[in-house]
Amino acid sequence: MSPSPVAPASKSIPAAHWRAFLRAWLSDPLRTAAMSPSGPQLARLMVAQVPRGNGPIIELGAGTGVFTEALLAAGVAPERLLVVELNRGLHGLLRQRFPQVRVECADACCVLDLAARCGIACGSADAVVSGLGLLSMPRLAVTQVIEASSRLLGSQGRLVQFTYGPLSPVPRALAARLGLRARRAGFAWRNMPPASVYTYSKDAVRAPSA
Ligand SMILES: C[S@@+](CC[C@H](N)C(=O)[O-])C[C@H]1O[C@@H](n2cnc3c(N)ncnc32)[C@H](O)[C@@H]1O
Repeated sequence: MSPSPVAPASKSIPAAHWRAFLRAWLSDPLRTAAMSPSGPQLARLMVAQVPRGNGPIIELGAGTGVFTEALLAAGVAPERLLVVELNRGLHGLLRQRFPQVRVECADACCVLDLAARCGIACGSADAVVSGLGLLSMPRLAVTQVIEASSRLLGSQGRLVQFTYGPLSPVPRALAARLGLRARRAGFAWRNMPPASVYTYSKDAVRAPSA
């Protein structure tokens, strides 16, 4: 698939998706980390960062499936996707929406084990597309998720992450330790709230072996 702009994600978010997301937020605001699903501009910007390839793509914190939908619309084959969502209600919605995609109700911190069970080897993923609210997650959980993502990515792979904050959401020291090079890929100003997209790729010179 192309790293250039891709097919548009659907323009409006169905009311049922809003309700499911709101229920998740009411039950656990910190974990849900947003009051509404991401909009199409952010979804396009996220998906445009996924490198061309045929390897696995792992999506973390899929919510109602805004990024999943955009990935499929961009031509990603459903069998390449492993989608992870911790909230049971949202997981149920994702299963309903994307019966052709592997959707797991699991903690992203355990994505390494989960990927292994799904036959995804370390160093084989083209991308980890993360919708997790890293800024509201415990530091240890952030470390676990980013370390696992880094191990899953192939040498040309990318971790794609958005943030509502002004800086890279992956702590600089952690990125440096893992040999991940951060790049701010763009800003979705029409998203509510506006969000920046960052990519993290393995620095060929400094990346430690997995
Ligand atoms: C900010 S929302 C983003 C949802 C969706 N990607 C979007 O952009 O609309 C974060 C999502 O991550 C999920 N989540 C939070 N912590 C998680 C974890 N440890 N493992 C898996 N999913 C998690 C939440 O339930 C929520 O659906």
